[in-house]
Amino acid sequence: MDAVPFSTRLRTESRDRHEEAEQSAFMSDLLGGRLGVDAYRRYTGQLWFVYRALESAGDRLADDPVAGPFVRPSLARLPELERDLNHLYGDGSWRATLTALPATAAYAGRILQCAATWPAGYVAHHYTRYLGDLSGGQIIRDRAEKTWGFAHKGDGVRFYVFAGVPNPAAYKRRYRELLDALPLDDLELRRVIDECRRAFALNTAMFRALEQAVALGA
Ligand code: HEM
Repeated sequence: MDAVPFSTRLRTESRDRHEEAEQSAFMSDLLGGRLGVDAYRRYTGQLWFVYRALESAGDRLADDPVAGPFVRPSLARLPELERDLNHLYGDGSWRATLTALPATAAYAGRILQCAATWPAGYVAHHYTRYLGDLSGGQIIRDRAEKTWGFAHKGDGVRFYVFAGVPNPAAYKRRYRELLDALPLDDLELRRVIDECRRAFALNTAMFRALEQAVALGA
């Protein structure tokens, strides 16, 4: 029997990839207040494609025995991202012009592929984004409010505000229990860890592409 809970393995065995994403130039510049609001607007726009993939797929997986228990309406970020984008662009014009960077399209594509063929792989992507948003995401919100003057938990940073999750620490505990109860054998759990590492790498690639786009002003 494996004494280490799966949720602990997932965290420790993806830690190096977390550090890589966290320490990427784009993230450190964003958090260090070295980027203009345009970079934040671009980042938020790319997240829209990621969460459209996560949440359109989530709707279809709600009854899946493996992925279903993780899919919760209280986590939904797409409506919040849309409110933030309306604020950041001043109106809904972004809908006609927003395009996914190739790295973002690859990331969203992988999420949809997992959702269609491998629900456990979708769980890896779900964990990587939502548990991160409930954790380090709060640091990003705080910096964004201070750097670009958004109202506390208001328009522009609603993506980071989980009104339906009043106690994030308790929510994360419950989430880890769900991870520990995944009905999967050892080989499949190993594959989920690998997919989580891939999910982090896809985020890092998206940050790198954003960094280049911002530098080029493209
Ligand atoms: C957890 C910070 C970026 C995914 C955490 C925690 C912190 C943190 C402090 C631990 C919270 C706790 O123990 O409850 C940050 C900071 C980031 C950042 C400052 C950016 C500068 C990211 C990114 C992702 C991510 C880009 C993925 C896309 C996660 C996940 C966890 C986590 C999945 C939960 C780990 C677990 O407890 O199982 N982050 N993070 N983080 N972060 Fe990040």
